[in-house]
Amino acid sequence: TAPERKDYYELLESVTRFYQYQLKEHPNKKVVNDYLKQRGLTAEVIAKYGIGYAAPGWDNVLKRFGRDKHTEEQLLTTGVLTENENQSRRYDRFRERVMFPIRDKRGRVIGYGGRVLGDEKPKYLNSPETPIFHKGKELYGLYEVRQAYKEIPQIVVVEGYMDVVALAQFDINYAVASLGTSTSGDQMQTLFRNTNEVICCYDGDKAGRDAAWRALENALPQLRDGKDLKFVFLPDGEDPDSLVRNQGKDALEQLFKDAQTLPDFLFSRLSQNIETNTDVGRSKLASQAKPLIEKMPDGFYRGIVLKKLARFLAWDEAKLNKLFTTVATTK
Ligand code: UTP
Ligand code: MN
Ligand code: MN
Ligand code: MN
Ligand code: MN
Repeated sequence: TAPERKDYYELLESVTRFYQYQLKEHPNKKVVNDYLKQRGLTAEVIAKYGIGYAAPGWDNVLKRFGRDKHTEEQLLTTGVLTENENQSRRYDRFRERVMFPIRDKRGRVIGYGGRVLGDEKPKYLNSPETPIFHKGKELYGLYEVRQAYKEIPQIVVVEGYMDVVALAQFDINYAVASLGTSTSGDQMQTLFRNTNEVICCYDGDKAGRDAAWRALENALPQLRDGKDLKFVFLPDGEDPDSLVRNQGKDALEQLFKDAQTLPDFLFSRLSQNIETNTDVGRSKLASQAKPLIEKMPDGFYRGIVLKKLARFLAWDEAKLNKLFTTVATTK
């Protein structure tokens, strides 16, 4: 119910302040702040994203906030606490981690990502699905992007918390993270409600390249005329965080300017494992392209992609068009 959601937001606001306070006051503060410094983060960006620290121990949050059973219940529901298998003990989910509060587009904290300071696993622990946090729907950093612009010319989607924060540090204030490797259809819808141009810039590894392909598939239904999706492929081993720190803001923004267009990525990826100089190969490519292009809403952009396919196949465009079903334009 609505009043309960309001309680959750208020509670998480307090928990977030507690994590922030620990970053400044806990006996471990030097180690943690040294880590953040070594990652290149300034006090300014730490404050902007509300970064904090969950201290070691099983009951720091529990002791501080779980005064009554009702609040304890709410801490569990919002994922700040977790419990053992037979549900006999409740304890802090996040222990000895750097805390990244995840905000919704209105700025309310709805969950967390927590990073270990060393090489322990898992590297990041995220809030579970809760009544106010749905991982596949939220975009880390979207609130801050919306604060920075009246109209957002473009949004860059990256994989991780650190990428968003690093870019902000370099005054690139239009990056969000999808909180998993790929970007879901719901997230694509949210992105295109906020801007006309989305640039996917995932890590320079196989996971990142595969994520780009899934992002393309998920974005196709959103590509009404005037909307555009582009792709940046980083050198092997780099992510946006490392690249901006190694090569600087201008180099990264140049990569954004030179981003691969959707049709280019679509056809180059499809033709990767196909002999496009044979009839059989071209027909195979066409059959793979068809269901993808059919996901696009009817319009000029779709027409242009179809024209490219026709050229690629050396086919008559009108004949090709007839083979394609047109879906009703979404929203
Ligand atoms: P990466 O493994 O690329 O980490 O995961 P990163 O962001 O570059 O981390 P640093 O630079 O080592 O700190 C990208 C994103 O995938 C999610 C997180 O959202 C992370 O930011 N992830 C990754 C998890 O949720 N859990 C993990 O164990 C690892
Ligand atoms: Mn309740
Ligand atoms: Mn990665
Ligand atoms: Mn990464
Ligand atoms: Mn990284």
